[in-house]
Amino acid sequence: MSPTASLDTAFCRRHFPALDGEWVFMENAGGTLVPDQVITRLNQFASRHQVQPGEGYEASEIGAERIADGRASLAQLINADVDEIVIGPSTTSNVYVLSHALRPLLQPGDEIVVTNQDHEANNGAWRNLEPTGIVIREWRMNADTDDLEIEDLSALLSERTKLVCFTHCSNIVGRVHDVKEIARLVHERGGLICVDGVALAPHRRVDVKQLDADFYLYSPYKVFGPHMGVLYGKRELLELLANQSHFFLGDDDFQRRLCPGGYNYELTAAAAGMAEYFDCVHDHHFPGANVDTQERLNQVFGLFAEHEKTLSRWIEDFLDSKSSIRLAGRGASARERVGVFSFLVDARDSREIPEKLRANKIGIFADDFYAPRCIDALGARPQHGVIRASLVHYNSSEDVDRFIRHLDDIVPS
Ligand SMILES: Cc1ncc(COP(=O)(O)O)c(C=O)c1O
Repeated sequence: MSPTASLDTAFCRRHFPALDGEWVFMENAGGTLVPDQVITRLNQFASRHQVQPGEGYEASEIGAERIADGRASLAQLINADVDEIVIGPSTTSNVYVLSHALRPLLQPGDEIVVTNQDHEANNGAWRNLEPTGIVIREWRMNADTDDLEIEDLSALLSERTKLVCFTHCSNIVGRVHDVKEIARLVHERGGLICVDGVALAPHRRVDVKQLDADFYLYSPYKVFGPHMGVLYGKRELLELLANQSHFFLGDDDFQRRLCPGGYNYELTAAAAGMAEYFDCVHDHHFPGANVDTQERLNQVFGLFAEHEKTLSRWIEDFLDSKSSIRLAGRGASARERVGVFSFLVDARDSREIPEKLRANKIGIFADDFYAPRCIDALGARPQHGVIRASLVHYNSSEDVDRFIRHLDDIVPS
């Protein structure tokens, strides 16, 4: 490792064409920008190889290789094996299919735990099983911390608990949950976990093996990649799931079995550009380092995390300094925060603030961000949701400075 390795933001930014304008992008939790490597691969595939893959003729064979590269890149990002991931249109769609595929394994009276903090993606599909006799238990946010507390989960678990569905990090509150510890607790009682990693994956390295996650989901379009969803499952669990596709497909192929219809080939091919970009960041910061793919990703995400933490402290201190601002998750300060800040301003409709910031070319948004239960628990409904600013590694200190200066003008102390 280079002795002075800290993120060269200017180098990273040069790879994102959308960053050459005047706008500050701070709605990254909604979706991130894509680097040249992704755009180029998308362009190449669509221009040259967009035929049915794997049929023996040249364009078809090269297309199949490009798709395989994309699959490998999507699996490597979370340290999964290629055959353990299923690519679908979105995380929402992947959870929906998973809920149907798991249903035949459950008996009436079996229990599923969901939270009131999660995005609806890892929520509604499970709650919809209730009319079939499944008992839904809700793990609720603690009002002091705005967060999910493990003691509260412990009290909900029983010998009928089959599955606990929760978020690695809320797209609103932004604090990181101890997935490994939750997995240990749930496994001890004989249950499984299904983790929504969508809000975490852009910020921290994910290693599904190390987390001991049974099912884990993320969306590449929030990790500098194309618009799609990735479901990971432990192989021995995927084998038990009911086929959700044509009866003649997929006895031994989880992708075919758990993604009804084809998946998006051009976007999968483009996803290999994510790995190419991370490699390029790695080579720039750690020249000559001879380490394997997993270690490269660890190092790159280590740089991203350190950079984000520095900027995040700055934002958090500013928001804390304003008595008219209430920052979600303030009370859970012992828990690590990714660069996601959701807040309310006293007596103000949340929608007003982004509108004013937009006039200064700062892109943020106010909404429930499809986590309506979390918004209600925070009491943010009357103000039309929370104002959310979210950073990723390509945000610079100039971005944060501009955001803080303009917010300071708008919000009273
Ligand atoms: C935490 C979280 N989970 C799930 C989703 C849904 O992802 P998708 O759009 O891929 O269905 C989102 C999208 O905003 C999210 O932030």
